[in-house]
Amino acid sequence: MRFIQAKDYEDMSRIAADIIAAQVILKPDSVLGLATGSSPEGIYRKLIESYRKGELDFGRATSINLDEYKGLDGENSQSYRYYMDHQLFDFINIDKKRTFVPDGTIEDAEEACRIYDGIIRDNGPVTLQLLGIGCNGHIGFNEPAEEFSTGTHCVDLAESTISANARFFDSIEDVPRQAITMGIGSIMQAEKILLIASGKSKAKAIKEAFRGKITPKVPASILQLHKDVIVVGDVEAFSEMELKQ
Ligand code: F6R
Repeated sequence: MRFIQAKDYEDMSRIAADIIAAQVILKPDSVLGLATGSSPEGIYRKLIESYRKGELDFGRATSINLDEYKGLDGENSQSYRYYMDHQLFDFINIDKKRTFVPDGTIEDAEEACRIYDGIIRDNGPVTLQLLGIGCNGHIGFNEPAEEFSTGTHCVDLAESTISANARFFDSIEDVPRQAITMGIGSIMQAEKILLIASGKSKAKAIKEAFRGKITPKVPASILQLHKDVIVVGDVEAFSEMELKQ
């Protein structure tokens, strides 16, 4: 596991975008595991910039996103499909047919999960998985639990996640209570993992995930067992954890 300390959000975004860019340049048909939320926005801006300068070509890449709110369709501006289209896909030359996000509109959640596991099986393994981290240590929407999940499943979002994500909605009542998320088992199958974290609110989760014991109560702690993880965090995100020089 490698830790890279960035100065601030901007610097974190630059370093992480460079890692993703290098991946796409070295292996143009990479399968990128992508995340939503505030953390990756800067990375996506930088990837778009590089694409516009002619430095990056996503023409052969595939993307598989981590999660989607249950009940929201891609036209809904709060859905993760909408986020991905508007933060990245619409501005680069990735083939939209090869960008996958769980379908939150399928009434039967188990069916939606089965379909997504099929998509992961047929298009994976993920070459480089980008992850953010929740203040409670979640990755994807794998919330603290009694055991680690394996495949795609429908989760009840933790109260802390609902409040954290309320900032994207008009009111907290509008935040969906359930989501479809890739399981921890699928995340762990990625060849490489790049986790990003910015700000003081992530410091405790980062410390518990990477310096604490491996437990499903801190889902990100499982990453200690992955062979190729890079954590790029800013000074505040690493502020509770000592980094070896
Ligand atoms: C989003 C996702 C979540 C976020 C996490 C951090 O697709 O899977 O695990 O990465 O909630 O969110 P932000 O970046 O908004 O702090």
